[in-house]
Amino acid sequence: MAKDKTVYSCSACGGLSPKWQGQCPSCGEWNTLSEAIAESKPGGSGNRFAALAADGQVRQLADVDAEELPRTPTGIAELDRVLGGGLVPGGVVLIGGDPGIGKSTLLLQALTRLAPERKVLYVSGEESAQQIALRAKRLDLADAPVSLFAEIGLERILTMLDREKPQVVVIDSIQTMYTEALTSAPGSVAQVRECAAQLTRFAKRHGTTILLVGHVTKEGALAGPRVLEHIVDAVLYFEGDTHSSFRLIRAIKNRFGAVNELGVFAMTDKGLKEVANPSALFLSQHKEPVPGSCVLVTQEGSRPMLVEVQALVDDAHAPQARRLAVGVEQNRLALLLAVLHRHAGIAAFDQDVFINAVGGVRISEPAADLAMLLAIVSSLKDRPLPHKLVVFGEVGLAGEVRPVQRGQERLREAAKLGFTHAIVPKANRPRSPIEGMTVTAVERLADAVGAAL
Ligand code: TYD
Ligand code: MG
Repeated sequence: MAKDKTVYSCSACGGLSPKWQGQCPSCGEWNTLSEAIAESKPGGSGNRFAALAADGQVRQLADVDAEELPRTPTGIAELDRVLGGGLVPGGVVLIGGDPGIGKSTLLLQALTRLAPERKVLYVSGEESAQQIALRAKRLDLADAPVSLFAEIGLERILTMLDREKPQVVVIDSIQTMYTEALTSAPGSVAQVRECAAQLTRFAKRHGTTILLVGHVTKEGALAGPRVLEHIVDAVLYFEGDTHSSFRLIRAIKNRFGAVNELGVFAMTDKGLKEVANPSALFLSQHKEPVPGSCVLVTQEGSRPMLVEVQALVDDAHAPQARRLAVGVEQNRLALLLAVLHRHAGIAAFDQDVFINAVGGVRISEPAADLAMLLAIVSSLKDRPLPHKLVVFGEVGLAGEVRPVQRGQERLREAAKLGFTHAIVPKANRPRSPIEGMTVTAVERLADAVGAAL
């Protein structure tokens, strides 16, 4: 096969350069050039992106058939939840996560569930067929009719896909694949991008569902370019603590469904088991109330979940007090501490402040603000919050407590789990009383602190 011409393209401005340079000759940015394939001449036989484009006609919105896409549930309910109901023909899903978190295990489980009705194929660039078979045996899945292919050459994989025509394909992992069109090593940005693009083209053209496994770098980004996230239809991330026995999967992009749904699994020696009702998973069971702990009701997609937020506030011994947040956003913590000082008169500038969301869950919604602040105040004053209390609410820079979505649902879930008190934003006050739950509605941060401690 003739090699395509290699060029270097700038990730900032898209400018091209025939050779690698430290600085982009077009825009002057440093370290932005990476290897790419020169595009073929317009109209040439190798129009690489033709398959990604639609049929090239302008039509009226109303005239387009908007049939619901047929979905194939994987049979793993928590995975289907994050996928928005199941797999879609021609859909490409990227599944990212730390090494060892369970990506290969989950996908093998999903394929074996699909195998009786669909033609499925597992392409592995990381493990030999024997290693995969051993894993299947460990998981008691060895009898399922799953085809295996241990290969890293993209051209050979595509030829084989063309011949075998599987309906669902797992590529484990995209970082191990390489295309002969590029000279750079597997795992390089250019290789990852090009391989993902070619596989996506194949999926669209043949209606094959492709699940790409992607590794995450230390910084938590998918290794390889963010463009990978643009190429594919859905991006799912494994999150959570590798040391805990729970595994969370979150959709951060989904062209076929809602994002921010969370799938929850428990790790067992027989693979990942679904946790259908995770709302009480992220609470550590204290016999007596302890200072610095506050239970928050967070909404993950369509499900409310209770999460314990823990704070530790201690005298700072360095000139610069430390602020460390695990599971919540660090910048948000700094901001909230400023609000706490300015609007509730509680200073923590000479204190180290540590915040942790129990169980390795990551909370991205601002509804956690009030719980974080009450946990901090509780630790600072060394006084526990009332027993069986739940809290939610966003805190604004003016010290106001803002309402959050689905307040009623959150309160009902907390009541179901035996919580008896709640501190919530005024606008989230329940219209009709919730049985067994005393609700304190607050407008200002200072009121919330007063009500809690
Ligand atoms: P693996 O699926 O290989 O992780 P990844 O593909 O994300 O790197 O899982 C890592 C290890 O954990 C593997 O040795 C199997 C083990 N494991 C279990 O024993 N039970 C489980 O439920 C999961 C998910 C993994
Ligand atoms: Mg793996």
